Amino acid sequence: MGAVSAVEAVLGGETVEPTLHPEMRRFVDDVTEIVRRGGGEEVVTTRVASRLDELLRSPEVLDPRCTKPHADNYVLYPVWVAPDGAFSVAAAVWNVGQVTPIHDHGTWGVIGIYGGVEHEVRYERTRASGVGALTQLSERDIRAGQVIVCCTSDHDIHRVSCGSHVPCVGIHVYGADIGKMPRHVYDPATGNMRTFVSAWTPLDAAPENAG
Ligand SMILES: [Fe+2]
Repeated sequence: MGAVSAVEAVLGGETVEPTLHPEMRRFVDDVTEIVRRGGGEEVVTTRVASRLDELLRSPEVLDPRCTKPHADNYVLYPVWVAPDGAFSVAAAVWNVGQVTPIHDHGTWGVIGIYGGVEHEVRYERTRASGVGALTQLSERDIRAGQVIVCCTSDHDIHRVSCGSHVPCVGIHVYGADIGKMPRHVYDPATGNMRTFVSAWTPLDAAPENAG
């Protein structure tokens, strides 16, 4: 399925590639089929969530290099990027105390927690006009083994942090190549948006002393 070339392309031609555990490879094959079948975001995310729940029952499906926190910031490692960009599987790692800005994704996303606790705060626009300050909608902890649909294209403004005393590691599945997707960070007071791309983290980026 072109695993090496897809990931190498993301990493700018570097020969760094995650080792795909056989259960992860089966997961990727099944998600490829789910995405190909389509049926709308609600159908796709429900099916992906069910399959991710099953994957999390197998231990140690992530390449250990995809679970290392970085000392300075949260990181997003590429586990799999579909050759056509139709979806991607990321390992997202927050060290203790790390937090994202308030952001969106512009596509669907399903998250399963591999280790630790992910703390999520969701927001919405105060005014239906699509401008103005953000208001907090909800807050929750997502624990190891749990799976949630984190976002759909039209409902996905949130902030995520490590909610545990150990690093939080999540398997994130998105309906696009999330390392190339232009999306937004938000100022909560004004609602002003800034476009950004959260480039993939090279597998060897985390310093040994990151913890
Ligand atoms: Fe997010």
